[in-house]
Amino acid sequence: RSKVTIKSLNRMYKHGEPISMMTAQDYPSGLMVDRSGVDMCLVGDSLAMVTLGYDSTNPLTVDEMLHHCRAVARGCKSSFLVVDLPYGSYESGPEDAVRTSLRFMKEGHCEAVKLEGGKEMAETIRRITSVGIPVVAHIGLTPQRQSALGGFRVQGKTSKQAQLLIEDAMAVQDAGAFMMVLEAMPEEVAQVITKQLSIPTIGIGAGVHCSGQVLVYNDAMGIFDRFVPKFTKQYANLNEIMTNALKEFHLDVKSKQFPAKQHTYPIDPAQLAKFYQ
Ligand code: KIV
Ligand code: NA
Repeated sequence: RSKVTIKSLNRMYKHGEPISMMTAQDYPSGLMVDRSGVDMCLVGDSLAMVTLGYDSTNPLTVDEMLHHCRAVARGCKSSFLVVDLPYGSYESGPEDAVRTSLRFMKEGHCEAVKLEGGKEMAETIRRITSVGIPVVAHIGLTPQRQSALGGFRVQGKTSKQAQLLIEDAMAVQDAGAFMMVLEAMPEEVAQVITKQLSIPTIGIGAGVHCSGQVLVYNDAMGIFDRFVPKFTKQYANLNEIMTNALKEFHLDVKSKQFPAKQHTYPIDPAQLAKFYQ
């Protein structure tokens, strides 16, 4: 299939064709997302929780993220590849943010970076885009700020909050973001934001009126079931399938059902006779 570029994404947006985005965290998930025809692949920092078992996305380091980003990039050849800047690697100033973004472009082989925040990140987004790195913004529920938000909570539920979200959306667009993720907000609010913007919005828990949709791979595939957000649609139950397969292997070993003849290597009978002598 042909390579998805910012140009083709903009074409989809112009024609009102919804954009699909899925996260990935390693080589096989990157490969499968790519093969399935999904437009964009995000190495989301949610991998801190669903793949690495951290309690939040905050402990994830740049080096850890680079390790995953490179693995995904080896599998993902046609989908447009975006990576999340980890918590603590971009907030202290545009200088830091540019340095981290360059590292991900150069060593992570991604095509754009994503960062959380609204107005307060405008200057940073301006600086990153000024050196030619495409930026995806992320507003609404911003998991890296869960401590300040008081947990993973829906945003924009009051008219005042909703107004602030619109201001954030306009600010990051004006700063040069080419796309933004809208996470966990009433669909009417996401609809108004999407209408007012001239760049695509990608929703997660933000209703059907966004310009596209994103889900976390492990949630959508039913791999991670410790906490499943309301906005997740589970397209498969790999957890159950894989746990059953592992149980079967375990029992096969105990009962010597495995390995069978077809899993073993033959030896020439003449050689065997000599060997036994
Ligand atoms: O980290 C992540 O997976 C994300 C998506 C939910 C947008 O940021
Ligand atoms: Na993220």
